[in-house]
Amino acid sequence: MAAAETFSITTPIFYVNDAPHIGHAYTEVAADVLARWNRQSGRDTWSLTGTDEHGQKILRTAVANGVTPKEWADKLVDEAWVPLLKTIDIANDDFVRTTEVRHESVVQAFLQKLYDTGFIYDGEYEGFYCVGCEEFKQQGDLVDGAGEFDGQWVCPIHGRPVEVLKEKNYFFRMSDFQQRLLDLYESQPDFLQPDSVRNEIVSFVRRGLDDLSISRQSFDWGVRVPWDDSHVVYVWFDALLNYVSALGWEPTADAPAFERFWPSNHIVGKDIARFHSVIWPAMLMAADLPVPRRVFAHGWLLVGGEKMSKSKLTGIAPSQITEVFGSDAFRYYFLRAINFGQDGSFSWEDLSARYQAELANGFGNLASRVVSMVGRYCDGILPPATEVTEAEERIHAVLASAVARAEAAMERFAIHEALAAIWTVVDELNGYLTEQEPWKVAKDEERTARLHTILYTAAEGLRALAVLLSPVTPQATQKLWRALGAESALGSLTDQRIPDAGEWGQLPAGAVVSPMEGLFPRIEQEATV
Ligand code: MSP
Repeated sequence: MAAAETFSITTPIFYVNDAPHIGHAYTEVAADVLARWNRQSGRDTWSLTGTDEHGQKILRTAVANGVTPKEWADKLVDEAWVPLLKTIDIANDDFVRTTEVRHESVVQAFLQKLYDTGFIYDGEYEGFYCVGCEEFKQQGDLVDGAGEFDGQWVCPIHGRPVEVLKEKNYFFRMSDFQQRLLDLYESQPDFLQPDSVRNEIVSFVRRGLDDLSISRQSFDWGVRVPWDDSHVVYVWFDALLNYVSALGWEPTADAPAFERFWPSNHIVGKDIARFHSVIWPAMLMAADLPVPRRVFAHGWLLVGGEKMSKSKLTGIAPSQITEVFGSDAFRYYFLRAINFGQDGSFSWEDLSARYQAELANGFGNLASRVVSMVGRYCDGILPPATEVTEAEERIHAVLASAVARAEAAMERFAIHEALAAIWTVVDELNGYLTEQEPWKVAKDEERTARLHTILYTAAEGLRALAVLLSPVTPQATQKLWRALGAESALGSLTDQRIPDAGEWGQLPAGAVVSPMEGLFPRIEQEATV
């Protein structure tokens, strides 16, 4: 038997200098929806997230708070980053921390391998460094400071002056990989998406690559360089290796999880696309390992036209949203309202409006009406559809086309397009009920067969919607699945296969439909501000 197709996906690992805001949660949710979708499409799926705990940024935060960096990292992981996963309902398979022995040992083994094969040499670094980005900067990357930073070079992302470094460092021969990287972008166009980011990276690499400083000597919060313990490994070189350390890669032994799931798909913000599409594949090429399957760079959540960030005090905690609207609405909203791959502005008004129109009135109300009509007119037993007309055939066709379009969009990680395709079924079913008026048909005893057909059609449409939306709104669809009697008739919701969702007639007549609380309850307006 052929092995099942695999799908593995990662988020960036998050700096633990501060607690998460909704920009971080956005990355998590996108990767989680893609993982759940692929798992329900029958692929052998694995998803990874975690935390990035070394480097100067964390060290300085810990010192400022009067604790050791490890104490600081432990506190933030336990109190903020792991709880985030529950807040937004993430079903990750693993959580990697860069301070774990399983990770640190891989960093050392990988580095040693590159050193032994001549890809690392010692030299002197003289230049700029942004601690916010944890990145060595070229002068062309920087802007002139103004106000309190007048006369200094400033990082455009963090708005703060860069530091001038002069240190003995080890260097990675990244410049050797310029042509191989250009060949990769050329031969595998979906390696790096969207096209806007791909074009930017291609022209960056065409301009030529410098070797990369991969160690630091002036502080010690990091993984020791194995052959010279006066250096620690540069935090990005360390962090990128999480993607293979979590899979148990080893230079000399078999690593079954690595064999099974590598290469992964990486979801990253556009600010860190360069690390993932230049440095990371070059590191892998040097170690003779396959490059990632795909790097997809999403846009930023903006506040007042700028990247939302805690340091600029524009960060909103995810729980501020989930406590009012719930985790399903959080997940749905950001993936529906923002084209995945582009920037998007967050506003409470837009969230509130979409919640009301699309989730509460569109999907939630449709589900409540159908479930309660089957209760009222058929004693909670799903009737058969015996009088199929053009109106019903249209529903079947809209559903089949929505499934095909959603699948194609998800293949390209165009999550917003997939949701828009699925929503055509919500809209079509709402229109169908308005047109067919089952509440009027119910008054005419001679038209029972017609009434039954309408109710069956609406309930079966909801069955398909529950399957298609379960990766995005797992809580609400689970409630709906139970209320439709689908759990007993068809098995658990997450075992349903997305490619089969459009096959009409799966919910059997006779299924026991039970009362259901509202999927998306009314929100008191004042609570949202
Ligand atoms: N630790 C590095 C990643 C190492 S991966 C080997 C890092 N961490 S981070 O915590 O600063 O950012 C993690 C992710 O959150 C990045 O993909 C970043 O783009 C994303 N976001 C941070 N602010 C964001 C917004 N305002 N909007 C959308 N995503 C944002 O970088």
